[in-house]
Amino acid sequence: MSLKRKIVVLASGSGTNLQAIIDAIKAGKLNYVEIAAVISNKKDAFALERARSAGINAIFVNPKDFVSSIEYDKNLIKTISNYNVDLIVLAGYMKVLSEEFINAFTNKIINIHPALLPDFGGKGMYGKYVHEAVLKSAVKESGCTVHFVTAEVDAGPIIAQRKIPVIPGDTVESLSKRILIEEHKLLIEAIGKVFVKVGT
Ligand code: GAR
Repeated sequence: MSLKRKIVVLASGSGTNLQAIIDAIKAGKLNYVEIAAVISNKKDAFALERARSAGINAIFVNPKDFVSSIEYDKNLIKTISNYNVDLIVLAGYMKVLSEEFINAFTNKIINIHPALLPDFGGKGMYGKYVHEAVLKSAVKESGCTVHFVTAEVDAGPIIAQRKIPVIPGDTVESLSKRILIEEHKLLIEAIGKVFVKVGT
């Protein structure tokens, strides 16, 4: 019987944060963690490819197969419940979760966000839109945040943050690239923190 902590990763895109977790497990930094499955709402998400390459269950759930987002999430709850998970990691998951889903896994869902929450978060603030807003506002610092997911988008308790300076001349591309490097370290740190808290 495996005594490892089981996580499920939800991802919609390229999956570099997922890769950071896979690599950390391989490197022994999270050797008590096992990724039970990677689930995506996008068929061509490279995250699914990364999962397959690492021998992890890669599951595409098509939103078109469900009459509503709530039905979609109910199906997700069923799928994830089968794995008996300790933690659900949103690593670039670009679909807003329903309250049904969040309530089914209270205190067990974490999200990585590419800015210093509570600033630059909330509905519509994802991916490049976050960096665009940061650059437009002319703040001197940005960064990334890992937080617990609660009903209010991007407003749950913060687990960890990393800051970086915004450099004059920064573009969405340059800023997001530098933040992503920090995200990969932050996510591993935050997963470790969560499991220390609940006791590994
Ligand atoms: C990351 O920058 C993550 O913080 C962001 O999407 C990117 C996914 O990259 N998430 C959000 O904006 C959620 N609000 P990845 O697919 O390479 O891990």
